[in-house]
Amino acid sequence: MAILSIDQGTTGTTCIVYDAEGASVSRSYRELTQHYPREGWVEHDPMEIWRSVLECVGEVRREYPGPIAALGITNQRETTIVWDRVSGRPVHNAIVWQCRRTADICRRYQAEQERITLATGLPLDAYFSATKIRWILEAHPELDPGTLLFGTVDSWLVWNLTGGRTHATDFTNASRTMLFDIRSKQWDPGLLELFGVPASMLPEVRGSMDGYGTVVDIPGLRGVPIAAVVGDQQAALFGQCCFEAGSVKNTYGTGCFMVMNTGGELVRSKSGLLSTLAIQPDGRPCYALEGSVFIGGAVVQWLRDALGIIGSAAETEAIAVEAGSNGGVYMVPAFTGLGAPHWQMDARGTIVGLTRGSGRPQIVRAALESIAYQSADVFAAMRADTGMAAGSLTVDGGAVSNSFLMQFQADILGIRLKRPKNIESTSLGAASLAGLQCGLWQRADELPALQMEGDLFLPAMEDGLRRSLFDGWRKALCQTLAC
Ligand code: G3P
Repeated sequence: MAILSIDQGTTGTTCIVYDAEGASVSRSYRELTQHYPREGWVEHDPMEIWRSVLECVGEVRREYPGPIAALGITNQRETTIVWDRVSGRPVHNAIVWQCRRTADICRRYQAEQERITLATGLPLDAYFSATKIRWILEAHPELDPGTLLFGTVDSWLVWNLTGGRTHATDFTNASRTMLFDIRSKQWDPGLLELFGVPASMLPEVRGSMDGYGTVVDIPGLRGVPIAAVVGDQQAALFGQCCFEAGSVKNTYGTGCFMVMNTGGELVRSKSGLLSTLAIQPDGRPCYALEGSVFIGGAVVQWLRDALGIIGSAAETEAIAVEAGSNGGVYMVPAFTGLGAPHWQMDARGTIVGLTRGSGRPQIVRAALESIAYQSADVFAAMRADTGMAAGSLTVDGGAVSNSFLMQFQADILGIRLKRPKNIESTSLGAASLAGLQCGLWQRADELPALQMEGDLFLPAMEDGLRRSLFDGWRKALCQTLAC
């Protein structure tokens, strides 16, 4: 028996089949086209998202035709899709979480900021779904909202996989819409009214391990139960077995997302973090504190696609090591504003410290270092909010395969970094939930065995160098924020 995990992320879709020991027996990946129709706008084609899932599923099923006990779905959060409830056609491209087009709509609601944060745990920002739905409704006044459905990517996939039978989402995804009260764990009627979103458009909210129906006539998946649905960062938290209050992980994907399980306590940040919902081993929601950095691994994609100075992400490690130092060059990749802990929707990227001697090696190194500095700022915020005394940090996500980045992160934080062997904790988290739900695994304490030992990065940088590098970063940040 095996579990199939679908991880629909910002950069692409990954499907992995896990066996009962947690080993990956088949894997497939499709990169997703990023659409940038205007400066600061980011879109995906929902049909391409759906096709990428079908293709990946087809591929893994050809390699592993054996029985699948259950399906787990995890997804890029906040990304907003609105579709026609009868035809199933999207009425607009998906508005991606990184998209800044609704910054002006957010300003309309400034007076309501406190009330929004109190209910949702979120700062008022274009990152979340509410203003994206508002934007789509305003862009299409010809459409009757009664005929439309809204969903984040999980709901879109579940709806398609079940042939339109299930329109649902889970607590973790709902908590990112800015329409969901994380105290009562229900859609907030006042916020629905405020943002002009009819309740009829919204998916039903279920637990991450509740059933989501069975897959209809899809080759390779027909009749397979959808056993788990979970937002990708909460999936990674679960995949890293951060079940106890106080446990924390950092995922280096398109963005970087540091999440701490805070158990039953809804911790309110004073340092620019957000409060959100995560999952306990029994599938019930618990609280978490999160620092979301908008551009993490995506800065490497930018070096490849926009600057054209690297051929692949894998090259960056050797280039950064050979550079020896950043040569005084700092990059603040605020391409889509800055998230935690600054929350500046209008900030844009900066490179500072260029000299005649700066070139490709320094730019590449500065890009990688920027990922570590941003995570270090979030770590400091988390420490300030919770008084945590973490001596180590567990990491995962695609970019952690870059050992230069990991060593630099350990050096800059001055703590140990633990990198598991399976760095795809997001996918493993969704599979773990699905496996628990269908009985492949009986108890959560069986899950750490699936984790597999990885590598440890020990801090080795002198204090003086660390301080001076941080100084340089702060100055670059100040130029970006014009402070
Ligand atoms: O909140 C956005 C996040 O869920 C996106 O994650 O893995 O696609 O960078 P990822």
